[in-house]
Amino acid sequence: MRMYDIIDSKRLGAELSDEQIRYAVREYTDGNIPDYQMSALLMAVCLNGMNAAETSALTDAMARSGRMLDLSELGENTADKHSTGGVGDKTTLVVAPLAACLGCKVVKMSGRGLGYTGGTIDKLEAIKGFKTSLSIEQMLRQARSTGVVVAGQSAELAPADKKIYALRDVTATVESIPLIASSIMSKKLASGAKCIVFDVKAGSGAFMKTAADAQALARTMVDIGTACGRRVCALITDMDVPLGSAVGNALEVKEAVAVLRGQGPADLADVCVELAARMGSLCSQTPVQECRDKASAALRDGSAFDKFCQWVQEQGGDISCILDTEKLGSARVRRDVICDRDGYICAMNTERIGMCASVLGAGRERKDDPIDPAAGIVIYKKSGQRVHRGDVLATLHTNAADSVAAAEAEYLAALSFADTAPQIKPHILAYVE
Ligand code: URA
Repeated sequence: MRMYDIIDSKRLGAELSDEQIRYAVREYTDGNIPDYQMSALLMAVCLNGMNAAETSALTDAMARSGRMLDLSELGENTADKHSTGGVGDKTTLVVAPLAACLGCKVVKMSGRGLGYTGGTIDKLEAIKGFKTSLSIEQMLRQARSTGVVVAGQSAELAPADKKIYALRDVTATVESIPLIASSIMSKKLASGAKCIVFDVKAGSGAFMKTAADAQALARTMVDIGTACGRRVCALITDMDVPLGSAVGNALEVKEAVAVLRGQGPADLADVCVELAARMGSLCSQTPVQECRDKASAALRDGSAFDKFCQWVQEQGGDISCILDTEKLGSARVRRDVICDRDGYICAMNTERIGMCASVLGAGRERKDDPIDPAAGIVIYKKSGQRVHRGDVLATLHTNAADSVAAAEAEYLAALSFADTAPQIKPHILAYVE
């Protein structure tokens, strides 16, 4: 078999065989195929696509390129949740303990933030002492004892995806539904959970800018997962507006804690209840509505908050920061962003709001850049809300005083105003089962 022929077939729009796909993945991971040939194949896939059989073969080949976790000792109710990334998306902090309250064993690997999107690992590390680097054995032990464990992505899982994703990042080949779906699914399959719920974000602050693209990605991932014997479903959720009010790591932990205490913004609480309910329903095979009711009750009666505290303690986090979130720390500089007109906010360019948080120090441009856990934005006025000249639209938090002017300009540039109230979308746009 020759890589040249595989590239040529895909260039001409042919379907690649299972054998060809496995060969390309295996030999590239082992260093026997150079980057320029893999880049050419990836570009041909971007241009000509892959059908369901090819996408499944690619997923399986990447999943099997490293360790495949066997969670069977934890039973049938192992659950994972994956968000395709957005701005202000702190759902894992709420959903993981909430799903554990519904009887799921939540075993999840998460990533760091990059560019304008945040990452769960950075958020968890805003809690003093919280350890995100765990061995597989530690993860299994904690899942057994506490029912919830979240750690950084293990290098042992899907190494082929790690290598291919790095290449896609620099060859303009990220934007392809079969490549994105197989990349995400290879890691999810290798992580071993029986039940997987996806939160596919759609809008200006997401990878998928339209609900139709988000739905196509969700459909592909759900089909791959189901074909591989997992119980899978997806929500399509709105990312044309940041989720909740807080953007930035410690600020998001505070907001997650508020939701876990039965307070916090309704959009965030609704999405968290739905995600946890879907996880609970897939695990227990009970109706979703029953699980929604249980999840809402767990937020109200304090059991989700207690589970969160148990989880934080188990991973070495300082629980006093959770009991009193002021101890998470705050930034030295705060600047209110003031509205200069009357009207309605009719759109928020959420990618720009993420960039604004990044400028303040909450995000990173490159993988190894440091971040400031205290930096970020608290948003008071969102799309659809009536505003008046002089209102505080948001407060910027930073320790880098020289970033404030640029961040304020970026924040204001992200907003569009109108004289009449705009149509507002629901937070949950669709379900894919
Ligand atoms: N996240 C992934 O893990 N892979 C992609 O291809 C895109 C987003």
